[in-house]
Amino acid sequence: MQILNGNEVAKQIKLEIKAEVEQLVANGSKKPHLAAILVGNDGASMTYVAAKAKDCEQVGFDSTVLRFDASITEAELLSEVEKINNNPEIDGLIVQLPLPKHINEKKVTETIKWQKDVDGFHPYNVGLMFKGLPCYLPATPFGIIKLLEHYNIETTGKNCVVIGRSDIVGKPMSALMLNKNCTVTICHSKTVVINSFTQKADILIAAVGIPNYVKAEMVKQGAVVIDVGITRVDDSSEKGYKLVGDVDFENVSKVAGYITPVPGGVGPMTRVGLLLNTLLAVKAK
Ligand code: GUN
Repeated sequence: MQILNGNEVAKQIKLEIKAEVEQLVANGSKKPHLAAILVGNDGASMTYVAAKAKDCEQVGFDSTVLRFDASITEAELLSEVEKINNNPEIDGLIVQLPLPKHINEKKVTETIKWQKDVDGFHPYNVGLMFKGLPCYLPATPFGIIKLLEHYNIETTGKNCVVIGRSDIVGKPMSALMLNKNCTVTICHSKTVVINSFTQKADILIAAVGIPNYVKAEMVKQGAVVIDVGITRVDDSSEKGYKLVGDVDFENVSKVAGYITPVPGGVGPMTRVGLLLNTLLAVKAK
């Protein structure tokens, strides 16, 4: 069994991005500039946005974090998005999800100018992705593809099972694996006898958000197991929680050929996906 080390691969790719930014700047271009909008005080969202800003600094990007109270109205938020759409200094914009219940996430996502939509959530980018055309790929599936490519994992003709059908991970992940010549199955909460599908997976991608959901008996011997889950589970540590994936790592790692750990697997690759998109936003100009 080999660990797919997202931390290591992300580190390498970040060095490549940094070198490319230095080259761009030396050639007279501006530095890539990512803006992130954060609404409210959700602990996980605050951690993610802070990590994204730190990544930007490490690779030589500019970043701006705009924070708003959870009471911001939908109209006010849409107007903030429009301001960034029209700001030539900013190349990419993400609005961290989830948003408070009174704000329509779909409306916000669709208001971001698709040319600055480095999360790849805008329907125009989603359409390009499904057609296999150049676009901003959603960061998590993009990062997973980069990780599979780094380890030279064969995809052509393989059975890929994706558990989860979210717009952010499950659906785009299945499209990208299809583009890489996998035979793709999407399982979800209404799937009957899920084991009968997962046991046939050469590549199993779990994105359900249920800690330790994937058990050893669900996994084919030698399979590539990608764990997208990252749930905060309360414990007695100083932080008060630990991060737990969707895969029962201890037991599944005895069956799998390759497996991503949590943390240190998909998480850092997701962040790299966002950096690659932001760099692309500048290069596409
Ligand atoms: N919330 C969970 N994942 C993501 C993501 O990839 N982008 C944004 N904007 N919000 C998220």
